[in-house]
Amino acid sequence: MVRLYKVKGQKRKKKEKYDREEESEQLDDNDIPESPKKAKTEGSGLDNEKADQVIDEMPGIPIVPADTGKKPGVIFILEKASLEIGKVGKSYQLLSSDEHANYLMKNKRNPAEYRPDIAFQAIQTILDSRVNKSGRLKALYVRTQQGILFQIKPHARMPRTYKRFSGLMVQLLQKLHITAAGKGEKLLRVIKNPVTQYLPINSRKIGFSHSSEKLVDMYDYVGTVANDMDLVFVLGAMAHGKIDKDYVEDYLSISEFPMSAAYCISIITTAVERKWKIL
Ligand SMILES: C[S@@+](CC[C@H](N)C(=O)[O-])C[C@H]1O[C@@H](n2cnc3c(N)ncnc32)[C@H](O)[C@@H]1O
Repeated sequence: MVRLYKVKGQKRKKKEKYDREEESEQLDDNDIPESPKKAKTEGSGLDNEKADQVIDEMPGIPIVPADTGKKPGVIFILEKASLEIGKVGKSYQLLSSDEHANYLMKNKRNPAEYRPDIAFQAIQTILDSRVNKSGRLKALYVRTQQGILFQIKPHARMPRTYKRFSGLMVQLLQKLHITAAGKGEKLLRVIKNPVTQYLPINSRKIGFSHSSEKLVDMYDYVGTVANDMDLVFVLGAMAHGKIDKDYVEDYLSISEFPMSAAYCISIITTAVERKWKIL
């Protein structure tokens, strides 16, 4: 759950942040954030003074040193993420098959396609990885099924419960950024397409699909990539269908079984961690 705090004159100790985080795990259904009143129109940025004084709680305690040196790193791109908001009753909510099946059917949408939990799990697995903790995750981009592209800073501490995650996504998709408490750093930010403009030149862009004919052992595969190259991993964060991106250089299947995006990410990060000897 994301709460609003005034910035001015506010100094909070680290311990207090953790205490509050634990408290907020116990919030009930009524805590889904309303559409922010300060946003003039849906999708508009924050541009008035009042709005600047209120920021969202996203404790952005860096968990890695900012300077990652010149070592190669990894970039994740989650494509076709099922992250769409809708006005349900009086409030905007992140649409999901679990919570909004009736709403979706009334609006002639297929509830089975509304699976924000896939992106939630995938993001969590990426940020929890040793690749990230060692400072080798260079960037994380998410592109929604509606084509909205946003970035999540690798040191952002994302909500660990789905309910708080969905509240955060509602705010992000309305206000276009989420700012770290007390710092002004934009930890999540909607950015311009295409994602390719943000990718390093010296990188290998690798896509993942169960339907790829190239079935590989991921550890063997990363061993074939030059040591000075960044690795860009592109996965789908949707329930059905496959990613089909022209910027991808190689499509891999990493198991003969169809798997969740989160499990694939864990195979990928484990392979990279072994390659770079990150324990
Ligand atoms: C929930 S799955 C989507 C299912 C979709 N039918 C497919 O296989 O592409 C989410 C993502 O996990 C990845 N994935 C799932 N199983 C995989 C496999 N065996 N090999 C490679 N990637 C896989 C793909 O990137 C896929 O887009």
